[in-house]
Amino acid sequence: MVATQEAVSSVGVWEDGSLKDAITDANTSPTPPFSHTPTPFDVEAIRADFPILRQLARDKPLVYLDNAATSQKPQVVLDRLQQYYTAENANIHRGVHYLSELATREYEAARIKIQHFINARDAREIIFVRGTTEAINLVVGSYGRKNIGPGDEIIISAMEHHSDIVPWQLLCEEKGAILRVIPINDAGELLLDEYEKLLNERTKFVAVVHISNALGTINPVRRIIELAHGRGVPVLLDGAQATPHMKIDVQELDCDFYAFSGHKLFGPTGIGVLYGKQELLEAMPPYQGGGDMISSVTFEKTTYNALPYKFEAGTPHVAGVIGLGAAVDYVEKINLDVAGAYEAELLNYATEAVAAIPGLRLVGTAREKASILSFVIEGAHPSDVGMLLDTQGIAIRAGHHCAQPLMDRFCIPATARASFAFYNTRAEVDAFIAGLHRARKMLG
Ligand code: ALA
Repeated sequence: MVATQEAVSSVGVWEDGSLKDAITDANTSPTPPFSHTPTPFDVEAIRADFPILRQLARDKPLVYLDNAATSQKPQVVLDRLQQYYTAENANIHRGVHYLSELATREYEAARIKIQHFINARDAREIIFVRGTTEAINLVVGSYGRKNIGPGDEIIISAMEHHSDIVPWQLLCEEKGAILRVIPINDAGELLLDEYEKLLNERTKFVAVVHISNALGTINPVRRIIELAHGRGVPVLLDGAQATPHMKIDVQELDCDFYAFSGHKLFGPTGIGVLYGKQELLEAMPPYQGGGDMISSVTFEKTTYNALPYKFEAGTPHVAGVIGLGAAVDYVEKINLDVAGAYEAELLNYATEAVAAIPGLRLVGTAREKASILSFVIEGAHPSDVGMLLDTQGIAIRAGHHCAQPLMDRFCIPATARASFAFYNTRAEVDAFIAGLHRARKMLG
């Protein structure tokens, strides 16, 4: 461990609790975030950055509308991954050699990019995990197991993804705690007055999704947090669907934890982020044991590393972190406020167009919505709709979207779901609508 600390210090990382040297080095990163100079929302120029969008699917131009499942990657992210494996690959925090120092610097520089991206107060509040699911499991397994006991209550919502239901159920089974669920209306909006009624002296945690993956609802998370904090209850937000569509400021939200995935944010798969307030993370026990999360080990006693390493056991996904850093650079350049306005316009256009399809019913009609259109067509199974669209080169998702209790709430087994990103176009929406008309005729 002494060797580890020396290696870390030698690249100036964490030496004085800051990452100043790493920031300086990050600015010398050789990959530019754009291969062009975009004009204010020039969607064709942006599309040119995504090589996969140029390919055919089933001999038709690919129309990729499954962005809520995973988004495509710009060339700069692909290049950054290749550069890492070509010229920088090494294990981090433990080597005394050139490549290890280089990889360590780039890894820590990406942490700072992500800190700034979500406006965290300190880079030590950024923990790298595999994805949103692991981030939530970390909070449940560490904060939850330490602080939640028999009879305590945890509040989630009726529109949670399974990854924000099942870990809490496991904890409730283990601890004898109780899961409470905020109900929703028929539009797919949370009932805030019901939430207020659920909050009581037994409530120990609130965990809700920022934007629903199955409905597109943007939840009133500021109010949810305010009400929980009024009772001293911490709040976790599942930001998997929000981070690709809106600017996130964790200090302004005042959330206690924020979880998101790299692969939905135009970055690599297998990498995600847990943001946590420093004082909460400091007080939490480690989640997994192994290399890098320790300070010293004897057979009698192990002491743990400082944040953020206490929660990063084992060799991390170094390439994934560095690739995510490149994705964040790209997204920042695009500007999520500008992209969000473009997407809102695209969503309105698509919503009006699908409304004209006979027998089609939208599932999720909240006033505040992001780029997701979930629907059912009378007499047609969503999977058949998805398969018929696929024959036309159009990619959507059909199924329960890992939100089975939500499907039960709407008394349906599944929906078909088109989800947009800032690289989608009106012409693609037109192709999707034409495809739906064709599918309906074939199935009807
Ligand atoms: N959670 C992802 C989705 O909604 C996989 O499709």
